[in-house]
Amino acid sequence: MILVTGANGNLGSAILTALRTRGSTATGGSRTPGEGTRRLDFDDPAGLDLTGVSTLVLVSAGYAEDDRVIARHAAVLAAAARDGVGHVVYTSLTTAGDHLAFAAAHRATERLLRTGALPWTILRNGLYAELFGALLSWSGDGLESPFGDGALAAVARADLADAAATVAADPVPHRGRTLDLVGPPVTADRVAARLGVPHRGIGLDEYRRRLLDETPGLLPFQPPMLASIATGVRHGFLAGTTPDLADLLGRPARDPLAVAAATAAAARPTVAAS
Ligand SMILES: NC(=O)c1ccc[n+]([C@@H]2O[C@H](COP(=O)([O-])OP(=O)(O)OC[C@H]3O[C@@H](n4cnc5c(N)ncnc54)[C@H](OP(=O)(O)O)[C@@H]3O)[C@@H](O)[C@H]2O)c1
Repeated sequence: MILVTGANGNLGSAILTALRTRGSTATGGSRTPGEGTRRLDFDDPAGLDLTGVSTLVLVSAGYAEDDRVIARHAAVLAAAARDGVGHVVYTSLTTAGDHLAFAAAHRATERLLRTGALPWTILRNGLYAELFGALLSWSGDGLESPFGDGALAAVARADLADAAATVAADPVPHRGRTLDLVGPPVTADRVAARLGVPHRGIGLDEYRRRLLDETPGLLPFQPPMLASIATGVRHGFLAGTTPDLADLLGRPARDPLAVAAATAAAARPTVAAS
């Protein structure tokens, strides 16, 4: 049986859908399980049960400080080894993401896999096109961003889900492989042009100030995380692409520009009728 963690999250649920669409038997693991989904909370190591799982798709459980994320992943990998899981597919971070503030948790998890006894495949996921679109903010009738004219090799989340499902459905040929799953590069200017609006750049000082002063609800680790994405994109560290995604999917990647533009468009404030 294939088990996909983070089953109620965006990526985990899409991987499950992709697996079921191709006829694979798969179940989900979640902190809040529903019918047919196993309870799986990495913050509760004593409660982790992976018996009967042949292939585990470990969707990274980020959104916390590195020590917490690494402890989560270590706990689930220990449970996988104890319970006889046959193969782990881990959704990591693109190689170019070594510049990003949250890379350490991914690389530490990869190290656990490489030094452990379980067969593994590491999917180094690029930043989502949806994320890129969401990080463009509306100001007046245009978009603002800290990205300058830097490009991001963005990838539609649905493609990453299809890629993970492809590997999980038949993991043996992918044993010991590290795949860098990024798409064609997009820029903020091109997203704005697609929407027919201007794009105005802001500096990194101003961006961080807005994160700290004007973005309620951010957790302490998030401003440095987002600022690292901004400088990484702005200065061209995340623009390079690889053939791994299209090779794995056997088709071209979905157009990340269209996905980013749709995400940005959906966030456009509506103008009140006068
Ligand atoms: N490549 C990118 O651009 C990008 C962007 C953002 C995040 N990420 C990383 O990719 C992961 C998946 O992205 P996503 O879009 O699916 O994020 P998401 O919609 O926020 O889903 C993340 C899921 O992680 C699971 N999770 C969190 N804490 C957990 C814990 N203690 N134990 C077990 N599961 C836990 C939860 O699943 P349940 O609700 O089912 O418990 C949660 O819904 C994120 O968690 C993050 O590490 C990547």
